[in-house]
Amino acid sequence: MALEEAKIRRQPAEKELSRQVVLVVGGGSGIGREVALLAAERGAHVVIADRDIAGAKKVADESKAIAGKEAANAVAVDISQRDAIRQALRELIALYGGLDILINTAALFPSSPDGQISDRHGA
Ligand SMILES: NC(=O)c1ccc[n+]([C@@H]2O[C@H](COP(=O)([O-])OP(=O)(O)OC[C@H]3O[C@@H](n4cnc5c(N)ncnc54)[C@H](O)[C@@H]3O)[C@@H](O)[C@H]2O)c1
Repeated sequence: MALEEAKIRRQPAEKELSRQVVLVVGGGSGIGREVALLAAERGAHVVIADRDIAGAKKVADESKAIAGKEAANAVAVDISQRDAIRQALRELIALYGGLDILINTAALFPSSPDGQISDRHGA
């Protein structure tokens, strides 16, 4: 066997989400927290975004304990503010260079008579 092939075989097997960057909006609590921890277990790099930054940091620490200290980060975001979303995405790109999977559990379910949802409904 070539030396190079022997080296490759010694690498740990990749996990389902290895080399994937996962953004979990609302990840500071509840369903989002569970999703973030599952993604970390499955090998992802996880960014936990929440308007509750203390909650997000706690979940980032829990994710780091599973996947390693480079594998998780918390960012602040309020998804009712477009500028805050832009800023959170800039932070994510500065950390990991891009995004593969977006999960949003900080859901808002506004309704309107004409079916059109404007920014005002999320405020
Ligand atoms: N838990 C359930 O059984 C269930 C069932 C059906 C639907 N849902 C819906 O799923 C969503 C998540 O549920 P959960 O139980 O995880 O709730 P949760 O309250 O535990 O978590 C929601 C997270 O979203 C964050 N958040 C809220 N508004 C935000 C905003 N504007 N910007 C950024 N972050 C924001 C909160 O800080 C919180 O950390 C909710 O909309 C809920 O109504 C939940």
